[in-house]
Amino acid sequence: MKKMIDVQHLSKSFGTRSNKVTVLNDLNFSVEKGEFVGIMGPSGAGKTTLMNILSTILLPTMGSVKIAGADITQMREHRLTDFRREKLGFIFQDFNLIDSLTVKDNIILPLTVSKLSYDEMEERVLRLTKILKIEHILARYPEEISIGQQQRTAAARALISQPLVLFADEPTGSLDSKAATEFLNYLDEVNLHEEMTILMVTHDPYTASYCNRVLFIKDGRFFSEVVRRSSRKEFFEKVIDMQATIGGGGKANAD
Ligand SMILES: Nc1ncnc2c1ncn2[C@@H]1O[C@H](COP(=O)(O)OP(=O)(O)OP(=O)(O)O)[C@@H](O)[C@H]1O
Ligand SMILES: [Mg+2]
Repeated sequence: MKKMIDVQHLSKSFGTRSNKVTVLNDLNFSVEKGEFVGIMGPSGAGKTTLMNILSTILLPTMGSVKIAGADITQMREHRLTDFRREKLGFIFQDFNLIDSLTVKDNIILPLTVSKLSYDEMEERVLRLTKILKIEHILARYPEEISIGQQQRTAAARALISQPLVLFADEPTGSLDSKAATEFLNYLDEVNLHEEMTILMVTHDPYTASYCNRVLFIKDGRFFSEVVRRSSRKEFFEKVIDMQATIGGGGKANAD
């Protein structure tokens, strides 16, 4: 198998020397092409910081991040822009929709510089929005739709370019359980049939149970990993057990 994401000795600190906060501390892991990997860990563990570095929004303090063989921490800005647009898809924790664009234009935005025909773009929008059940709100603006619909719009925007790698930070956090299950089934499908590599942050063990493997991080360090070997139900139980072991955050610890 081919390595799609390779993170080596990744560290990230914020602030100045006298006031330094180390958020990621020598993190190492890799993800094979076509894997569906979850990232879990208590609130404040550094999950979003990690996703922001992988999505090239934030530079690490130290270490390297290779995606499809290219070190994104060393890439020049214009190459990075193309790389990001052509190869990566993102669903951020706060959606990042553009208020002045309709739902449809938000979704289609990543394709505006592509060479796809108008018909092909239309077809992709229709197919995705049907799956995500937002086809009836395409003409509305983000402030006119619910949070769950905003999340699904962000998901459609991330998937429209059929990226090589999808980074998703809590992609089901604002969805009801039916919408979450439908969305996860769709991710499962693109992961399986299109070999899209997926890295997904979640607090929810049910959502995590769709992954092949879950990495647990705590205080910016690798804590442990759980690999799915048999049924989703059994994997779900293993994820809950690990959440209890790691402590501090996650709904499963409440009971
Ligand atoms: N720009 C910044 N400056 C200083 N500290 C930061 C900055 N961004 C994040 N942090 C700190 O880094 C730590 C990790 O934050 P991060 O958002 O990565 O956590 P998380 O694991 O995503 O948490 P959650 O599950 O709540 O989303 C937190 O203690 C946070 O306060
Ligand atoms: Mg976060």
